[in-house]
Amino acid sequence: MKILMVCLGNICRSPLADGLLRQKVTENKLKVEVDSAGTSAYHVGDAPDHRMTATAKSRGTDISFLRARQFKSNDFQEFDLIYVMDHSNLKNVLSLAQNEVDKEKVKLILGEISNSDAEVPDPYFGGQLGFEQVYDMLDEATEIIIEKIKNNQL
Ligand code: 4NP
Repeated sequence: MKILMVCLGNICRSPLADGLLRQKVTENKLKVEVDSAGTSAYHVGDAPDHRMTATAKSRGTDISFLRARQFKSNDFQEFDLIYVMDHSNLKNVLSLAQNEVDKEKVKLILGEISNSDAEVPDPYFGGQLGFEQVYDMLDEATEIIIEKIKNNQL
């Protein structure tokens, strides 16, 4: 199985979701490949935002090795599941879908926690609390994703 995490810049939310899920896949010895991308090209080639990297490190997750890339339509062929962080990401990703099969691969990541259309808020222009909250949300969501993979529910 291959899972892609997507946000706007691919330097805050999706690299964290990527790093958390990779870590849990390794811990659980699962056969899942994980990657992340941004809908924009703003930060292509950049390391994650230093505030996200520091928050992740302080909570036990290394994301420093990740580098930003832009989401591309071929990702629909490459990946089985594409998790987006907010409604804007959802709209941008769906606009590149070519058929219903592509569209069905795209989900809001917090939909895994509760059956809602809640968003992971963009922490980029805010303070430290925003990064901590993003960590908590994505830690919980990736935990549930792992449980669903183990139970063949994804
Ligand atoms: P991300 O956060 O989508 O979680 O990576 C952002 C990073 C950069 C920008 C916006 C959001 N930006 O406008 O540069």
